[in-house]
Amino acid sequence: MAIFPPAERHWWKEPVEKSEVLWVSIAFIWAIVMFLMMPIWHIYGDQNLANEAYRTTPEAFAAKAEAMVEKYTVREEGNTGIPVVAPPAGEDVYMIARLWEWWPILELEKGKTYRLHLSSMDWQHGFSLQPTNINVQVHPGYELVMTVTPNSTGEHAIVCNEFCGIGHHTMLGRIYVVDKK
Ligand code: CUA
Repeated sequence: MAIFPPAERHWWKEPVEKSEVLWVSIAFIWAIVMFLMMPIWHIYGDQNLANEAYRTTPEAFAAKAEAMVEKYTVREEGNTGIPVVAPPAGEDVYMIARLWEWWPILELEKGKTYRLHLSSMDWQHGFSLQPTNINVQVHPGYELVMTVTPNSTGEHAIVCNEFCGIGHHTMLGRIYVVDKK
């Protein structure tokens, strides 16, 4: 009963079992190692992205993406009607996520650096770039910006990996990387 003090007043002052000290120490050291790996791997590993995020609206983001498409479309993808856009190296490039596509298709230059902006027009979508291990969540109302420097040429597929409804499995996109040297 809590209204009486414990019979043994200093129950917590008992000597701690050796094995317990050992395990608590191991867990503590491991927690510190994992904690330090977050900044270390961000700097020295190639996987953790440094993202920036800004508030936006679907309308404002779509306007920027459409302006880029209007200016730099080089061709149409097959007869799908999807524009393939090749902005100059170093430009800000935009991709729209919406039910159920990534739009437009980008054509980037190998070894050149771009600012890639992503946002959604409706729900949460995923931006998973294959075969590179890049994987981010994309939300409406937020503009996600990453600085990317493509290092391999070819066709890179984008897969939506956040369930976004009946057409989720068909939600794909594409980035071409070409070597203009
Ligand atoms: Cu978009 Cu799943």
